[in-house]
Amino acid sequence: MNILVLGSGGREHTLTWKLAQSSRITKLFVAPGNAGTARIAENVAINVNDFEAIGAFSLENSIDIVVVGPEDPLVKGIHDYFLSNEKLQGIHVIGPQQQAAALEGSKEFAKEFMMRHDIPTAAYQSFTKETVEAGCDFLTTLKPPYVLKADGLAAGKGVLIINELKEAQDALREMLVEAKFGEASTKVVIEEFLDGIELSCFVLTDGKNYITLPTAKDYKRIGEGDTGLNTGGMGAVSPVPFVDTEFMEKIETRIIKPTIDGFQKDDLPYKGFVFIGLIKVGNDPYVIEYNVRMGDPETEVVIPRLENDLVEIFEAVGNQTLNKIDLQIKKEAATTIMVVSGGYPEAYEKGKEITGIENIEDSLVFHAGTKLDNEKVVTNGGRVIAVTSYANSYEEAIKKSYQNIQKLHFDKMYYRKDIGFDL
Ligand code: AMP
Ligand code: GLY
Repeated sequence: MNILVLGSGGREHTLTWKLAQSSRITKLFVAPGNAGTARIAENVAINVNDFEAIGAFSLENSIDIVVVGPEDPLVKGIHDYFLSNEKLQGIHVIGPQQQAAALEGSKEFAKEFMMRHDIPTAAYQSFTKETVEAGCDFLTTLKPPYVLKADGLAAGKGVLIINELKEAQDALREMLVEAKFGEASTKVVIEEFLDGIELSCFVLTDGKNYITLPTAKDYKRIGEGDTGLNTGGMGAVSPVPFVDTEFMEKIETRIIKPTIDGFQKDDLPYKGFVFIGLIKVGNDPYVIEYNVRMGDPETEVVIPRLENDLVEIFEAVGNQTLNKIDLQIKKEAATTIMVVSGGYPEAYEKGKEITGIENIEDSLVFHAGTKLDNEKVVTNGGRVIAVTSYANSYEEAIKKSYQNIQKLHFDKMYYRKDIGFDL
C-alpha cells in the first residue's frame, strides 16, 4: 500500500507514526509534513489545498489511500475532486465529501442536522445582516452568558461567550454588519449557554458502519486553570475519567447512532473521522460541535491507544467493511502535553533550534510546528511538540510527560503545567 497523509501538525505526525508500523506499507508520504514525519516517511512539498498537485502526485506514485488531516481541504471538496476524476476515483480518500464536511464548515448546517435527527444540543436561532435587529431582540430573551458563533470556519476564533447583554448585541452587529470574521460571519448562530464539563468522542465511519474510538478531553486555553486566549489545544487526556459505561451508552444511543443514521437519511457521503465535541450537563451529553476530522492534540492520545493496524482500518473505510474490524484499545491511559512557542496564540517567533528530543526515551514525541534546517530541528509554528505518555493512570502518564519535557529546550518554550487539573 502507498499512502499519502495530508497536513503538517502533531495530528499528522501521529497518524503517520501509526501507519508506519503496519507491514502493509510500501511507501508512506506526507504533504507537507514536518521534521518528525521526515524521519518516518517522505515529506513532499505540496500544499493541502492544491488539489491538482495532490491528484497528480497520487497518480505518479500509485497512491492507494489519501488520509486528510485538516478540515480545510475537506470543506473545499478534496474528496469530491478525487471522485470527479476518472483516474483518481479508485483511490480511497479518508475524510467526508464536501456536502457532509459542511457539518464543520457551517454551524447552522450542523444545528439543522441535529434538530432533524433529534440529537441533543443547545437551543439556537441564526441571523444575517438583514435580521440583525431581530437577533438583538432574541438576545434579550436569553439568560447570560450569551453564545455567539460565526457560521463559517474562523480558525477556532469564531465563538464569543459574553456576559453583558449590551456587549453581546454590539458583538452581534460587529459580526454581521462589519464582518468581524469576514465571510465566516455572514451568518451568526446565537445559542443557549450550556453549563458543564467538556469532552470529545471520535467515530470512524465508512458511511454504513462505524467504530467508536476512545474518548478524550483537551485543554484549549493558553493559561493555567483554563484562562486566557483560546489555542488549538495545549494538552489532552484519554480516556476521559468521568465517562463511565452508563454515560458512554447515552453518548452512543442519543448522539453517535443518530448521527451516523442521519448521514444515511440525508444522503451525506461520509467516509472518515467524526469528532463530536460534547458537554456533560448534569448526567446528560449535549453536542457543542461537529468536526469532520480528528482533533489535534486529541489524535496524539487517541491513536496511540489503538492496537489495530491502521492501514487495515482505513482500507475497511474505503471498502465499507468496517463491520469486519475488531477494534482493540489499550487499557492504559494516554496523555499529551503540548509545548508551544512563547507568545502563542498571538505573535511568536520561528526558527529556534530544538534540542534534547533524542534524550526522551519513555514518552512519544510528536512534532507539530517543526522543520528541518540543515539537519537541525527548528520551531516552525505556535504549537511545536506534543509529548505523549502511557501509564496505568492518567496522573502517572501526565507526570511522565512533564518529566520528559524537562529534557527539551528551545528559546521561549512554554507549556501548561496543569493538564488534567479539573479531572
Ligand atoms: P465551538 O467552536 O462550537 O466548539 O465552540 C468553542 C467553545 O465555546 C467550546 O469548546 C465551548 O467551550 C464553548 N461553547 C460553545 N458553545 C457553547 C454553549 N452552547 N454553551 C457553553 N459553551 C459553549
Ligand atoms: N483540539 C481541538 C481541535 O482539534 O479542534
